[in-house]
Amino acid sequence: MARWTFDDIPCQAGRTAVVTGANSGLGFEAARQLTLKGANVIAACRHRDKGREAVRRIRDESPNASIVSASLDLADLESVARFADEFLAEHRRLDLLINNGGVLTPPEDKTKQGFELQFGTNHLGHFALTGRLLPLILATQGARVTTVSSLAQYLGRIEFADLQFDRRSHQPWAAYGQSKLANLLFVLELQRRLDAVGSTVRSTGSHPGWTASDLTRNASPMFRWLEPVVAQKTPLGVQTTLRAATDPEAAGGSFWGPSRPSRAFGVAGPVRQARISVRARDAAVAEQLWDVSERLTGTSYVFVGSRA
Ligand SMILES: NC(=O)c1ccc[n+]([C@@H]2O[C@H](COP(=O)([O-])OP(=O)(O)OC[C@H]3O[C@@H](n4cnc5c(N)ncnc54)[C@H](OP(=O)(O)O)[C@@H]3O)[C@@H](O)[C@H]2O)c1
Repeated sequence: MARWTFDDIPCQAGRTAVVTGANSGLGFEAARQLTLKGANVIAACRHRDKGREAVRRIRDESPNASIVSASLDLADLESVARFADEFLAEHRRLDLLINNGGVLTPPEDKTKQGFELQFGTNHLGHFALTGRLLPLILATQGARVTTVSSLAQYLGRIEFADLQFDRRSHQPWAAYGQSKLANLLFVLELQRRLDAVGSTVRSTGSHPGWTASDLTRNASPMFRWLEPVVAQKTPLGVQTTLRAATDPEAAGGSFWGPSRPSRAFGVAGPVRQARISVRARDAAVAEQLWDVSERLTGTSYVFVGSRA
């Protein structure tokens, strides 16, 4: 295929999409583009006012956009449960779940339930959310779950002996890498489990290379200084996620990222399939992480009722 663009997104009319972290950066742009293609979008945001403001901006541009905001704090499993319960009560289908929200190297902190903030938000929050919404996802023909990982998956390690950095000194980048490797292990393990029950639901992943956004608000000044020079703009970065989420040819378990090799390790450029690290392909680690995540979040994934 020639260079993939937003024009390649199939019509989304009649489809329902949830985008987490939809009030800024990549999540906002994903939600915006999906409404332009006719999807009914639920912008799941942790701050009510920011969610409403995002919806207002999109509706100002496109008065007919079908979009509402809803409260979802990925760092609080009670909020995740509330969001999912309300969603399941109100909706008859979920075609697209985009697990996008996330934090990068915030000051050391814990989630409401005491998990290391990045692992808890980026991985465990989305793990619990997907598990709770799964019955509706399985019942929706052609549904897809797309989870946003990062180049940091190459650096990440899953330290089962100390997932929450309780026994080692907290290293923000190691914690981010662990959470983003966990995202990609989740993409692949979810697909294996969907395959095992003969479901047609697809689990795909993306990484936006380096895209200028609010994400680096806590990163070093050097990062902020380099960002305008090296990073790509949001509309290009989000193509990775939107291709993973909507391209009919994107297979379950595929992973999408920017392609330009000349700019520092594929941090920018048109979207193409990205390399999955050896660690992310480790099925034994993925299975162990799945079991630990179910236990930590109290989420039981039930795969019955899937449509072949
Ligand atoms: N930008 C990049 O270069 C890059 C590279 C690799 C991966 N990524 C990934 O891309 C995703 C989006 O990042 P971005 O670059 O668009 O950054 P961003 O502009 O900072 O957006 C992150 C979004 O996540 C939300 N969020 C943070 N904590 C949350 C929580 N506890 N519950 C619900 N939502 C929460 C933020 O909400 P608030 O506004 O309330 O904070 C915001 O809407 C992240 O998963 C990130 O790891 C980005």
